[in-house]
Amino acid sequence: MKDLKRTKIKELLDAPIIGKKVNVKGWVRTFRNNQFIAINDGSTINNIQGVVDFENTDEKTLKRITTGACISITGDLAESKGKGQSVEVIVENIEILGDADPEKYPLQPKKHSLEFLREIAHLRVRTNTFSAIYRIRHAMIFAVHKFFTERGFYNVHTPIITGSDAEGAGEMFRVTTLDPLNPAKDEDGNVNYKEDFFGKETNLTVSGQLEGETACMGLSEIYTFGPTFRAENSNTSRHLAEFWMIEPEMAFYDINDNMDLAEAFVKYLVNYALDNCADDLTFLNQRALDDEKTKPQQERNELSLLERLRFVAENDFERITYTEAIDILKNSKPNKKKKFQYLIEEWGADLQSEHERFLVEKHFKKPVILYNYPKDIKAFYMRQNDDGKTVAAMDVLFPGIGEIIGGSQREERYNLLKQRIDEIGIPEKDLWWYLDLRKFGSAPHSGFGLGFERMIQFVSGMTNIRDVIPFPRTPDNAEF
Ligand code: 4AD
Ligand code: MG
Repeated sequence: MKDLKRTKIKELLDAPIIGKKVNVKGWVRTFRNNQFIAINDGSTINNIQGVVDFENTDEKTLKRITTGACISITGDLAESKGKGQSVEVIVENIEILGDADPEKYPLQPKKHSLEFLREIAHLRVRTNTFSAIYRIRHAMIFAVHKFFTERGFYNVHTPIITGSDAEGAGEMFRVTTLDPLNPAKDEDGNVNYKEDFFGKETNLTVSGQLEGETACMGLSEIYTFGPTFRAENSNTSRHLAEFWMIEPEMAFYDINDNMDLAEAFVKYLVNYALDNCADDLTFLNQRALDDEKTKPQQERNELSLLERLRFVAENDFERITYTEAIDILKNSKPNKKKKFQYLIEEWGADLQSEHERFLVEKHFKKPVILYNYPKDIKAFYMRQNDDGKTVAAMDVLFPGIGEIIGGSQREERYNLLKQRIDEIGIPEKDLWWYLDLRKFGSAPHSGFGLGFERMIQFVSGMTNIRDVIPFPRTPDNAEF
């Protein structure tokens, strides 16, 4: 019997063969009446029930079937008489692969808070909520590659250690092998990075875009999908210090082509989830509904998670310029009644998440693409518009999330780019190769970045970004 090959629970539930002898391995979720074991192996959100013949099973083994224990059961697959499942395994043989002392195992079959589960992030994958999120993450990773592959884009690996600050925000984690207590110094007493591992200052990348642009200037359409690091000290439900970003970069695309691609991309991901993650989404939908009931009426979502997903997949996004958005915001109720934390007084103001969410959730009630931002609040590489004030930037704003995508048409004209780099004061030695792209065979091109975790937040309905990545990194937190 030992040799019987293991079958995944998903396979047994999808295509059960009654009377077939099967072996199942997994973790005990519950054990009721010394008889019914609910086992899960992560292949699906659904458990399979094992029915133990307790009269013929020794006492010691029964005692070891506890929540969290890992077991292997063998027996015939039978139609279930109980409620809630179609088939079950009539256990003939049970082996305990790993005990989980009930006095010590922290995950009991009751509702734990998400905050508590973050403290045991090494175990939380064994809950329905987190296993569903892990599976959805996987499905979304696959869908990203499928979307771009179908459109002839090439996936490019851009470096994780870089010498440049692509976003110019100075929020970088330093990479060094210098001794922090006794670093090499130059004649002026400053740290001498010439003595450092790479012979220069380096940091973890904040974006793969600049290197992505080099690749699109030969391959036409590329995308990166990599880890991204930002040392911004923002303890919000939408910021991580380490997150994953997808950055397509396309030669010959203008800002409108860029917006079209961004909209098609997120719709494709949402549709892929609806088509391929039905069990997990049904569970998360119910979870969110239960959660809503604990909130005051005015904070509740008008639409359920599944309704929100369908809504985004089926409706055109609203596209408005920054200037139009400022007009709407200036005249909005929360601005007039001074309800915004940051009041909108004049053109040029940077938009905060409260403004973005007002536009999406209250004013338009649908995703919004804002474009043509003031150049002073955007990165150096964005293409300058003829008005001399704005750049061809575009942000996609989502309900409950705010900014999910940021992108732009790139400045492809050497002189204008060089001028901007000088204005901002970026040393040319850091960007000579980037400027080279504008010297040799320059072309109009565009791209954007989708924050993968923010996308997973939207698809899963999880309100805190710490709950959609296995091991979140945030200020003061790098456990595990
Ligand atoms: O708007 P951002 O900073 O744009 C860029 O990095 C460009 N280089 C992208 C490009 O044009 N290729 O970041 C893009 C997206 C944001 O819209 C947001 O979804 C996500 O990345 N993001 C974060 N996600 C989690 N935690 C953070 N700290 C994030 N910062 C940005
Ligand atoms: Mg942005």
